[in-house]
Amino acid sequence: MILMKRKYFHFRAVYMIALSVALTLIVNAQVWKPDANIERRVDSLLALMTLEEKIGQLNQMDARWDPEQRRNVITPEQGELLKKGLIGSYLNIIGAEVTKDFQRVAVEESRLGIPLIFGYDVIHGYRTIFPIPLGTASSWNPIAIESAARIAATEATTAGLHWTFAPMVDIARDPRWGRVAEGAGEDVYLGSEIAKAAVRGFQGKIFSDLTTIAACAKHYAAYGGALAGRDYNIVDISERTLRETYLPPFKAAVDAGVMTLMSAFNEISGVPATANNFIMTDVLRNEWGFNGFVVSDHSAVMELLHHGVATDTAEAAVKALSAGVDMEMVTGFYLKKIAGAVKSGKIQVSVIDESVRRVLRVKFALGLFENPYRNCDPSRESKEILTQKSRAFARELAGQSIVLLKNEGNILPLKKDMKTLAVIGPLADNTMDPLGSWSAQGRAEDVVSVLQGFKSGVSSSTKILYSKGCEIATSDTSSFAEAERIASQSDAVVLVVGENRDMSGEAASRSMIDLPGVQHDLIKRIHATGKPVVLVLMNGRPLTIPWEAEHVPAILETWYLGVEAGNAIADVLFGTVNPSGKLPVTFPRNVGQVPLYYDFKNTGRPPSQEKYTSKYLDVPNTPQFAFGHGLSYTKFEYSKLTLNKKTMKRNEPLIVTAQVKNVGTRAGTEVVQLYIRDLVGSVTRPMKQLKRFARIDLKSGESKTVEFTLLPEDLMMYDIDMKRIVEPGKFKVFVGTSSVDVIETEFEVGR
Ligand code: GLC
Repeated sequence: MILMKRKYFHFRAVYMIALSVALTLIVNAQVWKPDANIERRVDSLLALMTLEEKIGQLNQMDARWDPEQRRNVITPEQGELLKKGLIGSYLNIIGAEVTKDFQRVAVEESRLGIPLIFGYDVIHGYRTIFPIPLGTASSWNPIAIESAARIAATEATTAGLHWTFAPMVDIARDPRWGRVAEGAGEDVYLGSEIAKAAVRGFQGKIFSDLTTIAACAKHYAAYGGALAGRDYNIVDISERTLRETYLPPFKAAVDAGVMTLMSAFNEISGVPATANNFIMTDVLRNEWGFNGFVVSDHSAVMELLHHGVATDTAEAAVKALSAGVDMEMVTGFYLKKIAGAVKSGKIQVSVIDESVRRVLRVKFALGLFENPYRNCDPSRESKEILTQKSRAFARELAGQSIVLLKNEGNILPLKKDMKTLAVIGPLADNTMDPLGSWSAQGRAEDVVSVLQGFKSGVSSSTKILYSKGCEIATSDTSSFAEAERIASQSDAVVLVVGENRDMSGEAASRSMIDLPGVQHDLIKRIHATGKPVVLVLMNGRPLTIPWEAEHVPAILETWYLGVEAGNAIADVLFGTVNPSGKLPVTFPRNVGQVPLYYDFKNTGRPPSQEKYTSKYLDVPNTPQFAFGHGLSYTKFEYSKLTLNKKTMKRNEPLIVTAQVKNVGTRAGTEVVQLYIRDLVGSVTRPMKQLKRFARIDLKSGESKTVEFTLLPEDLMMYDIDMKRIVEPGKFKVFVGTSSVDVIETEFEVGR
């Protein structure tokens, strides 16, 4: 097996167990490179194919839904296309039996019998819905994220699926953008580690294995850089920003063996991603050696007409296919226009052959030719979906995804046997919104609401009073009085507020990112009762909550936690689970600060009391809650930050150690974070960059020495000439509990 060149954490002997597990994963994980046998089979099949059949492999369609039969049906037109081998893939057909219907026609009634590949958006679970990706990113636990993807893949393959359009690896630094919910937040290193973990989880160890699904790193590229956070808007960035910020998670996914990518809707500095030869061919294939295929996003090829870079559908199809977008999603432009373009000399058959080769390579790797009906066993669905084991894991991962933002006076954890607890808010007795966006086959009936979780979490003597208080996004305050009344009768109040799940995800940008509706007024009304208030946020993006951050003593960020939401929140609120989550994205004080992220640059006039420096008149430059922030019910102290040398050669590692002590009264898990700063470069450099992290468990009073190994490649940058090098000079290294709470020391990189 090829040992993956994976950057992983080095631990002292005390972590040998974790390391041996990590090593097992590395040795077993397969970096997907085509093998000679597959290449021979691809070549021999390609030689038999007509031009039309080749183009058919590049054509992905969706199928008609018959509401009476409650299933997708093969229309006469698509039946004809299937028999002619003119459809290579479907999206959104779900079910062992219905996929078998379509597969049978393609395999048994067409000339060459090339199997279909079925794709679907399995983003954070198939039926066992895990927290949204921004939530699981808050766990900073790549191994757990890999396990969640493994469960999602296993469940998806019981329903005839071979391919998921995930992980979404778009770096997002503008919380107005609704799709920040779907990714791993603002950081390149955290995002890259999570991208690798998700790819490993979805694709498993042996691609022809029954539970493997091909992963799809999306949206290539820089979709998260949408101007003003408005979805689908232009992205205007330098090549340096593209390479330093937006490309690394895709490179990480490719290095982890991802089998497909999806092209983005947006333009990148004037060139739409879906017609962008630079990213699709120069970078992806020529620099990175990617061997899989790229599918366009939904109708993104047609949208080249709206972008104004194609005069007609033929030109749009030629531009996309020539750039390196191999498969076209749903508008059928390749099927309708590419044969004509070949005849008119607008595109060479060799270009088409290369794309077909990539698609066939993936289908061979998945074992679809040996067993086209591999995922069509209906008996699996009942046995392998939403098992107690997967629910238990979902609860554990949800607990790790919760971020304790504030706990003034340690009012948390609440006592399980308190006399009366008031639970108030529009998301308290809600089983739909905790599923979040892109919830695949998730069902509200599977979800444990906060109210349900509390009822089973507290002692039998505790009385729970409930009021919805208000809706999520209306101006109706008629239930405030009821909410105020039950709050007054309670020992403590838990307020469950936030956004509904349609306020984040695709086409869900918000210009203001405060609590919608009258929820803020409800919070103030309940706060005025003088009762201890705990705020539980359920949302798909950072929110601006300055008043709450100042006045409410305890605040939990829970995102959308999936099927076990209520149990996981109860576990944390009542102290069964000690929160360990850390923010993967910055919370601004107000939307005027956006974009605001931790790895900002110093500028020539760093903010100070001086007037003529880079700051606002009405708000500090600092965030409400920083990247990497997250409290615990215990406390961790950092000391003894040491380096094995003060000068690092450009071809040797640097060992960084720090002592972390649990000085609190209960056991806890800490996410230790390591950042660097390159003090002087041939170009400006960020004030901090995350380069390592590790989750460590510490009993009360226990100390551990955490050891990280920094490799020269961790210090690499694009210099003034866009060469990727390690520049000599002074660096700072920071280790701590967040991006703003660190201890530091210095080292130098020698010439
Ligand atoms: C959507 C999304 C993409 C998704 C695709 C198929 O428009 O942008 O993330 O995978 O269509 O559903």
